[in-house]
Amino acid sequence: MNRLHHGNITCIEDLRKLAKKRVPKMFYDYVDSGAWTETTYRANSDDLANIRFKQRIGRNVETRTQRSSLLGEEVTMPVGLAPTGLAGMQYPDGEILAARAAERFGIPFTLSTMSVCSIEDVAEHTSRPFWFQLYLMKDRSFMEQLISRARQAKCSALMLTLDLPVQGQRHKDIKNGLSAPPKPTIQNIASIAIRPRWCLNMLRTKRHSFRNIVGHVAGVSDTTSMARWVDEQFDQRMSWDDIKWIRQIWDGKLVLKGIMDPDDAQMAVEYGADALVVSNHGGRQLDGAISSIAALPRVVRAVGKQAEILFDSGIQSGQDVLKALALGAKGTLIGRPFLYGLGAMGEAGVARCLEIIHKEMDLTMALCGLNDIQNIDRDILESQGRSMFAS
Ligand code: FNR
Repeated sequence: MNRLHHGNITCIEDLRKLAKKRVPKMFYDYVDSGAWTETTYRANSDDLANIRFKQRIGRNVETRTQRSSLLGEEVTMPVGLAPTGLAGMQYPDGEILAARAAERFGIPFTLSTMSVCSIEDVAEHTSRPFWFQLYLMKDRSFMEQLISRARQAKCSALMLTLDLPVQGQRHKDIKNGLSAPPKPTIQNIASIAIRPRWCLNMLRTKRHSFRNIVGHVAGVSDTTSMARWVDEQFDQRMSWDDIKWIRQIWDGKLVLKGIMDPDDAQMAVEYGADALVVSNHGGRQLDGAISSIAALPRVVRAVGKQAEILFDSGIQSGQDVLKALALGAKGTLIGRPFLYGLGAMGEAGVARCLEIIHKEMDLTMALCGLNDIQNIDRDILESQGRSMFAS
């Protein structure tokens, strides 16, 4: 039994270490990296770490609850799984397993356009409606098709990601020649061969490429043409008119993701967003941008009363979730923490990640004198933390 198995896994860092051992290098690297110098990737977590809680006593904290709602859906804690590409390469059938873990825990799962398992695959294996994340591509009939597939699968929200008109450069992905399935180079074969558990499980599933796309678009049948297609297809001309168009053809909840600027937030609301996600894509896009937590209070001040504000980028613990909520987010998304859980132990690893975060939130609430997550505000933070992120 691995030293880091189950009971010995007490924090997200343990899951990361185990994932690093079990996931082939190119896919582990794809997760644990940011754009260029990774300055923004680091700032996301550093700035969260620099916020301080206020210890309070004598408040009877015997009963505590994290029950809340996100986009009108009941949740056991205000945390959802962020859309992440290629989760099905961290662990075979990864998106299905992560969606199931989220459903069992009672929180939302977001499926990425760039997933391995398709919208239909996830719908078939879950009963709680999930959220679908869309990237705007030039092929508008394919966009319409994807949106109608999401509707058909009863997705309860569409999350349009706006911060990727071009892809940020992540050095490791280029050096590793990232693709799905991996190209059979000597380097790749060597890094995969030393992960027999991953290989065996991967042989047991037929889900190996971008199943939302391959087979649904003429001319895209393998990943070589796929890479070229994405390069050609991501729409650099994306503007507010396109958001208006999507608002017209999707009548469910619309979430706009990748908002860092209060003026953009205002536009997002004017163009019909029900919610927005303050996010710098986990530091994977504009390196040199401020941390997402530093951007949050300004966005909350600008549109907090008009739209639900979600937050992501940099969360590594339940304490980080509480800090974002204290600064005005209604809920948070997590990317890497659940991917590490998935890579480490599949569905059980995602469940473990969620338990860890829930418990960290629970104990911290008690020590801050907070009974009900719905009453959280800046008062749980020291003023030092507050002034750092003054709105
Ligand atoms: C992402 N993210 C992302 N976002 C999106 O809208 N569509 C996508 O396909 C992806 N793919 C993706 C892959 C990987 C490996 C990561 C780590 C992230 C961004 C994601 O939704 C979220 O914004 C960040 O992951 C949040 O930061 P943390 O929680 O990873 O620090």
